[in-house]
Amino acid sequence: MSVQSDIRRLTAPDIRARKGGEPIVCLTSYHAHTARIVDAHCDVILVGDSLGMVMHGLETTLPVTLEMMVLQGHAVMRGSKRALVVVDMPFGSYESSKEQAFTSAARVLKETGCGAIKLEGGRRMAETIRFLVERGVPVMAHVGLTPQSINTIGSFRAQGREESDWARIEDDALAVSEAGAFSLVIEAVAEPLARKLTEAVPIPTIGIGASAACDGQVLVLEDMLGLSPRVPKFVKRYGDLGPGIEKAVAGYAAEVRARTFPAPEHTYPMKAKKS
Ligand code: KIV
Repeated sequence: MSVQSDIRRLTAPDIRARKGGEPIVCLTSYHAHTARIVDAHCDVILVGDSLGMVMHGLETTLPVTLEMMVLQGHAVMRGSKRALVVVDMPFGSYESSKEQAFTSAARVLKETGCGAIKLEGGRRMAETIRFLVERGVPVMAHVGLTPQSINTIGSFRAQGREESDWARIEDDALAVSEAGAFSLVIEAVAEPLARKLTEAVPIPTIGIGASAACDGQVLVLEDMLGLSPRVPKFVKRYGDLGPGIEKAVAGYAAEVRARTFPAPEHTYPMKAKKS
């Protein structure tokens, strides 16, 4: 008996082949129910380490652990069928050596079943990316604003708004692409630089705050749904779920206090007695 699903999941090579083609649609998801919804519309689901802020109320992504990523990555795999699921490598799980990166990435692939990992950093991560790819780990790279470097960059500000910064960021993009990354997230960079990077690299660029010049786009799901209290300038809110949830919770609380919930239709009757 085959245990294969009828729906073929997109792979890293499928996404790599979309360079310059139809835009790649990506959103984050951290759990099974949202993954199911996102999966119906997106090519890639990113289990981002932004889950530290969104799910756990952390100020930065730095405290996020490999265990958290594995747990949520597995949930997203269970909730999805078609999209390529990419799981973020959290801070401290891959930077100290290429061997450390392989051990962590192998654990993520084995324990979640996801199709690729993402890591932050440009030229400094190129050797690690090559090592991972040669050993069967598809890597999505991430340049521009890299939130895991918050303590060295000082703030979450846009990058490449002065031309003097461009050479460094372009060098980062070329280095990760030459090392074998299958796609490249570009976060919070000025539009002309995003365009230049997209033209310069042979792999698809996925922008977040990096203009429509990129080959695809990603947003944090809760940001675009209107659930996050503060969002960066580049987020467009496609929904306003906060007030809807508030209304539902207030309605429930009022009915529990008034003893009108549960009503008879939400209550189990006794079985009829056998005569
Ligand atoms: O962690 C995340 O959600 C990300 C995206 C913002 C690209 O890395």
